[in-house]
Amino acid sequence: MKPFQEYLDLVNQAIAAIPYPEQPSQLYEPIAYHMALGGKRIRPVLALMACDAMGGDPAVAIDGAVGIEMFHNFTLLHDDVMDNADVRRGKPTVHRRWNDNTAILSGDTMLTIATQYIARTGSWPVMDLFNKTAIEIYEGQQWDMDYENRNDVTVDEYINMIRLKTSVLLGCALKTGALIANAADKDADLLYEAGVNMGLAFQLMDDMLDVWGDPETFGKEIGGDIMNNKKTFLLINAMLLAQGDDADELRHWLNDQYATRENKVRGVTALYERLGVRDMALKAIAHYNDLAIAAFNQVKMSDDDKQTFVQLANKLAGRQF
Ligand code: IPE
Ligand code: IPE
Ligand code: MG
Ligand code: MG
Ligand code: MG
Repeated sequence: MKPFQEYLDLVNQAIAAIPYPEQPSQLYEPIAYHMALGGKRIRPVLALMACDAMGGDPAVAIDGAVGIEMFHNFTLLHDDVMDNADVRRGKPTVHRRWNDNTAILSGDTMLTIATQYIARTGSWPVMDLFNKTAIEIYEGQQWDMDYENRNDVTVDEYINMIRLKTSVLLGCALKTGALIANAADKDADLLYEAGVNMGLAFQLMDDMLDVWGDPETFGKEIGGDIMNNKKTFLLINAMLLAQGDDADELRHWLNDQYATRENKVRGVTALYERLGVRDMALKAIAHYNDLAIAAFNQVKMSDDDKQTFVQLANKLAGRQF
């Protein structure tokens, strides 16, 4: 397998070559803007890596890879409306730079462009997997919104929610590459399992970075989850552990609709630190990363290829970006 950067170059070239019509400019400019902001491009790179590791030509998987990355970017346009987020990848979100209607309609267009790219793979199993994954993501996003208004969300419910909203797309990316390479079913399924576990670690880390990340490298404003009362692993465990004054304070922050961002984020972060939920999250990340590595190691591929996947999983599990 090649180094990450070489797959990334292929992906970036293909994304830069996507033709957008000129008009209506209010529909297409936001799409070009968002796609040009880059991001980590983890999902399309995973698709190319899996295709290569399973003996396929990664160049053949490029349409599937671009479709998945376009789909991911579509979910971000809508997610930033739902989460009322101002900054993504260090730049204003589409709904802030333009407006909500633009984020909705440019997002819809991205979803359809994504579907066109997926269809170009000419593979029914790839299209089936893509559509199933897309619906799971909408389900996960709905649970995420529902949970903002519930204070009895369990850790199991949280894990299922992030499996749906985030993890299945990493699994889908790896399995798409494997399907395009005509891998054995067992290997395609193991890669999917590895992707889902990587995705669980990935979202747990995203939740941590939303509290302790550096906005420069993370590219998003810190404290969005706290402001939205998102039932993250951190908040759920803090609610389970808090006693006495800590429990009263946490309840106060969850219910005080007039709290300033600065005060609420500072107050809740201090509670997280006092209650030790940061270490609990790091342990959970290590656990799911171990499961991802175990799945990669069971796939029939060269030791070198296994190492490349394991290194990437470890890098993502310890990321600051
Ligand atoms: C952001 O995904 C949404 C989550 C699932 C946490 P990424 O962290 O992969 O975002 P980009 O594409 O690199 O900006
Ligand atoms: C995003 O979860 C999941 C999807 C976009 C489907 P988040 O809401 O945590 O993602 P960020 O933090 O805004 O990137
Ligand atoms: Mg969000
Ligand atoms: Mg969200
Ligand atoms: Mg987040």
